[in-house]
Formats: sequence, C-alpha cells, structure tokens
Amino acid sequence: MSRSLGILFIGDIVGHIGLAFVKRTLPEFIEKYQPDCIIINGENIVNGKGLTAKEADELFALGAHVITTGNHIWENWQARPLLANSPLVLRPHNYPPGNPGKGYAIAEISHGRKVAVLQVQGRTYMQAIDCPFRTADAILPKLTAHTNIVIVDFHADATAEKMAMGWHLDGRVSAVLGTHTHTQTADAQILPNGTAFISDVGMTGPYDSVLGMDKDIALKRFILQTAHKYVPAENNMKMCGAFVRVDERTGEAISIEPFIYPEFSRSKV
Ligand SMILES: [Fe+2]
Ligand SMILES: [Fe+2]
Repeated sequence: MSRSLGILFIGDIVGHIGLAFVKRTLPEFIEKYQPDCIIINGENIVNGKGLTAKEADELFALGAHVITTGNHIWENWQARPLLANSPLVLRPHNYPPGNPGKGYAIAEISHGRKVAVLQVQGRTYMQAIDCPFRTADAILPKLTAHTNIVIVDFHADATAEKMAMGWHLDGRVSAVLGTHTHTQTADAQILPNGTAFISDVGMTGPYDSVLGMDKDIALKRFILQTAHKYVPAENNMKMCGAFVRVDERTGEAISIEPFIYPEFSRSKV
C-alpha cells in the first residue's frame, strides 16, 4: 500500500495583521495536520498589495515550501525583484513574457520527495492575459517529469472559470485550489478522475471588513462611486485554506478538508 502525503494550503493573507495571525496559528495547524508540504498565497500582505523579501522570508521561516501570489503582486514594485530572484515565490504563469518571475516550482520536501506547484490566473472579469488552460497544458509535462504530485493555485474571479479548470485538469493534477475571491466556497470535492477541487479556499485576515479591506472605505466606494484608498481592516482574524491528502505514488487526491479558523459565528452569542 502506498503512503499518503499531506498538503496544507493557506489562502490569500491580507495585511501584516494577517501575517501575524498566521504566525500565531500555523504552529497548531502543523501540530494537527502534520503536513509534508505547506503552500501559502501571499498576494495581499503589504497593504493588500503583494509582498516583499522580508515577508517571504518570514513565511519560509514558518515552514512554507512555496508562496503563490496573484494579480495584486504587480502593484508592489518591491515584489518584482523578489519574483525575479526567488524561485519558490510564484506569480500566475500566464502573464505575458517579459514580466519577472514564473508560475511554477518544484519544491523539495522531506526524504527527497518533490511537490510541483503551478499558479495560473483566470481571465473572466480579470486582465486579458494568456489562456490559463493552454498555459497549464503546456507546462504540465515539465512538472510531471519530476513528480506525480502537482498542486495548482487557480487565481480567478468567476466560479464558472474555476470549475471549468477543475474539469480541464481532473486526473492530470493532484489538486486545483482556487484563490482570489477571498470567500471560501462550499464545493470542496474529489473529482471523478482523482483531482481535489475547491473554487476558492478563502482569505486569511480580518473578516470585520469587505474582503479584508476597511469596511467603511469599501462602503464609500460602493455608495459614492468615487475613489477612496483602501487600507486593510484589523478585526475578527481568521485563517482559511484547505488540507489535501494525496497518494504519494500516483499523486491522486485522497481527501480535501477546507478550514475556516476560527469558524464563523452562526448564532447570536
Ligand atoms: Fe487576494
Ligand atoms: Fe487576487
């Protein structure tokens, strides 16, 4: 019988306050899940926009094997040298050639084992970048030459596009885990050909907010329809993500367990 391997994936960290919460919370998650590999999306750490070498180093010190990002990484100019110089800090691979960094990595975990991580970004309601489906097709053979375990962070807005990517990659990768919307979806499942899927793992950060940003500013933007500078919110911290167990030999997913920690209150206390 082949052994299984645990992948802990943590959704978009918002603000330094979100990073501080991960520092406090991650050790108990490591204790509980005993993950073999930790992947963290850090696209929103510095005032909601990207991360720098300092925050990346902190995430690696916490145990992260690979850091993924997303569309907001480009708004932080200090993130560009980080992308250019850090092979384990990814940005969506389907941005046009000429941008720094890349969207895939082979992470070395314990006992010489390897986990491939690929990040691509959707186009529905987002930038008109290269096709994420064809980009994934083109890069997959490069990854599976090293390992059968491939985790895809699909950074996309539309649940339809995310579900389509799940079907597109079912049986070819271990997991398709959605990021970007900051709201965890209730559709975690193992697809018929063995790929773990969830449309969005949710945000790690302050939930007394609108998707992590100060709710009063967000309300002004919606109601007044004019520009108001976003700042990250501060209260009701939660860490969201998913724990995926995969067959170490075949790379097939065995289980997916999304988490929101601590859970939302669903009654008046
Ligand atoms: Fe995000
Ligand atoms: Fe994003």
